Amino acid sequence: MLTLNKTAGVFKPSKRKIYEFLRSFNFHPGTLFLHKIVLGIETSCDDTAAAVVDETGNVLGEAIHSQTEVHLKTGGIIPPVAQQLHRENIQRIVQEALSASSISPSDLSAIATTIKPGLALSLGVGLSFSLQLVGQLKKPFIPIHHMEAHALTIRLTNKVEFPFLVLLISGGHCLLALVQGVSDFLLLGKSLDIAPGDMLDKVARRLSLIKHPECSTMSGGKAIEHLARQGNRFHFDIIPPLQRAKNCDFSFAGIQHLMNKIIIQKEKEEGIEQGQILSSAADIAAAVQHTTACHIVKRTHRAILFCKQRDLLPQNNAVLVASGGVASNFYIRRALEVLTNATQCTLLCPPPRLCTDNGIMIAWNGIERLRAGVGILHDIEDIRYEPKCPLGLDISKEVEEAAIKIPRLKMNL
Ligand code: KG4
Ligand code: ZN
Repeated sequence: MLTLNKTAGVFKPSKRKIYEFLRSFNFHPGTLFLHKIVLGIETSCDDTAAAVVDETGNVLGEAIHSQTEVHLKTGGIIPPVAQQLHRENIQRIVQEALSASSISPSDLSAIATTIKPGLALSLGVGLSFSLQLVGQLKKPFIPIHHMEAHALTIRLTNKVEFPFLVLLISGGHCLLALVQGVSDFLLLGKSLDIAPGDMLDKVARRLSLIKHPECSTMSGGKAIEHLARQGNRFHFDIIPPLQRAKNCDFSFAGIQHLMNKIIIQKEKEEGIEQGQILSSAADIAAAVQHTTACHIVKRTHRAILFCKQRDLLPQNNAVLVASGGVASNFYIRRALEVLTNATQCTLLCPPPRLCTDNGIMIAWNGIERLRAGVGILHDIEDIRYEPKCPLGLDISKEVEEAAIKIPRLKMNL
């Protein structure tokens, strides 16, 4: 049985007073008056997150429990451990988000929850909790595609109209898509193997950055970015993958293997064992970050040219949105800025805390779907989570057939 406080636990005089005043006249913010309000719940990977967001993009309350530190210690996410941590935290996190919002759960317009794609055991916790809550509060349910939520977050922080190009780069995903509407995506390319965040996490682990005094609590990608600032990327000359493939697909497994070889070689040269920190760790971090940035920019460059060639994007001032955990990397953002400047586009990125997984993006996706009137369920009988689920209509073959050549870009970052 779920026990949620009917009203807020945290005192926020102005907002609460307004709602109480309105309720005394029987005006309910989620229904008759004011804005739509959605509770968003995210458990697709290793963050238990919830948020309450209104129609104008106001974040009324949010809470998050990150499992990063636990998984760093075990050297990667162990799904049953993630599931157990979600179970232990979900009730508290949802309660905290609702309490901070100062609204009563009965004022919610709907509950939106990530149901795809992600780790099965993690998705299951969020979905079963949400369905219980939906039944209890008798609210509509909005199932959310995690990548759609990442893609639409920018419309909460900036005034961005459809269509726009989106680059989603995280620990579990890597794709380029044209966003034509709330649930209308054309998939231009994706990673053929692992995601960039996964690769950076593996390189960071192989470098034992968890033992580095400055990086011990950072995710692998963040640790690489931190250390790269002290390093020299020119100490290693790495050619980004897929040079000949004239499509928008990505590959990061090769970079990981190459970095492994370099690390083994350096361990020999420096006479140290695996598990000790190399004196060249910062140079290696700088090199892997630069190679990742160049590879991402090249594939994105082709996507911009393809969309312009087909009039899918305007010739001037087209918007490129970069989101997902890896898009919080400022070096990669700067590299993307070189590209957008050269192609008369505008680069937009949500603030780093909205690039990584959070409940706000899920609640906002719920608001977007409510406004568009798509995917709002009143019957939750057959809802299932889906660990694998592509985003949009895949036109990557068409992109490849166009065989667009990319002009050289100088990456003096
Ligand atoms: O979007 P996210 O929170 O979760 C997934 O959906 O995967 O992304 C997490 C990933 C991790 O692989 C992490 O190492 C990476 O994003 N990441 C970064 C940075 N911060 C997080 N990668 C590069 N630079 C960063 N600053
Ligand atoms: Zn994500």
